[in-house]
Amino acid sequence: MRHLIDFSDMTREQWEQLYQRASQIMDAPEEYIHVCEGRISCNLFYEPSTRTNFSFQTAMMRLGGSVFGFADPNSSSVAKGETLKDTVKMVSNYADVVVMRTPWEGSAKAASLYSAVPVVNAGDGGHMHPTQTMADLTTITRLRGGVDGLCLGLCGDLKNGRTVHSLIKAMAKFRDIKFFLISPRELAVPEYIRAFMRERQMWFTEVTGLEAVIPQLDVLYMTRIQKERFVDPLEYERNKGVYILTRRKLERAKKDMLVMHPLPRVDEIAVDVDDDPRAVYFAQARYGMFARMALLEHLALQDRDDHLPPVEIGTKPVCTNPRCITQTEHYLPPLVRKIGGVDCCGFCDAVLR
Ligand code: NCD
Repeated sequence: MRHLIDFSDMTREQWEQLYQRASQIMDAPEEYIHVCEGRISCNLFYEPSTRTNFSFQTAMMRLGGSVFGFADPNSSSVAKGETLKDTVKMVSNYADVVVMRTPWEGSAKAASLYSAVPVVNAGDGGHMHPTQTMADLTTITRLRGGVDGLCLGLCGDLKNGRTVHSLIKAMAKFRDIKFFLISPRELAVPEYIRAFMRERQMWFTEVTGLEAVIPQLDVLYMTRIQKERFVDPLEYERNKGVYILTRRKLERAKKDMLVMHPLPRVDEIAVDVDDDPRAVYFAQARYGMFARMALLEHLALQDRDDHLPPVEIGTKPVCTNPRCITQTEHYLPPLVRKIGGVDCCGFCDAVLR
């Protein structure tokens, strides 16, 4: 694996190798403190982040490597109008791996076309967040012994929640997974995710109520309503606070169900749930750091590639998704991929119309 843009970039075997490595690091972290010595990660964070940015930074530090970058694009040449392509070409001169988070869907894929070093997608708008999925799978595997055969409830803003999209894609690699997708109708998963699940014949059902399905779940994955992604503030007002997990609702859940959340939480999990042994969201953040250590070890030790093939220059964007990176970076090539037989944008996956 050269870049991690989407969880589909990995095979199940590659994931299992990374998981084994993350487990080994967890069990004896002192053995890994020199693994990335002399290696440098560039962390480009165009969007707010606490966990992801800090855990990538500390992951690299715990491997003996160093980190530079920005957490506020206004302090970089981006504020002067530099393109993503130029920023990435520049920083890949200095770093051994580039970790990036942006509000633009498909931006990590775009960056990977121009980077001499591996690129990691640490969240591209409401699209994907594959390293959060590594944290999620590490948590489930450590605490439940495996992922096959589980029944998962994904609850909240499934339209804009990138962690949910990545988790669903990853689950296609496992057997006998059942999904209850719990959301208000207007915040249901995007069409390309539904097409992906149908194509792979994944078992899923879309519901609006949490309480009726809670007794069936092995994992309840709560998510925040993603306020910053709403174009219409009234749509946010209609949906905020729609799901709140309380101790009372948990009474009907299995005794060994895991309550997970990528965090930050707003109000969707009542604070008194934190002390329930099934609440594992803070441990999940720690597992995420070890998973990222395994990933950085794999990527930051790779050789640079200073002879990337030329990329065709785009003329006009083929994608009409207003949040797609092709809307602002007009030089990008017109990439198309098929999902469930339908033509979709090769950057943001939106169905092409
Ligand atoms: C998530 C994200 O940024 O998508 N947070 C995270 O990375 N742990 C979830 C969120 O912001 O709701």
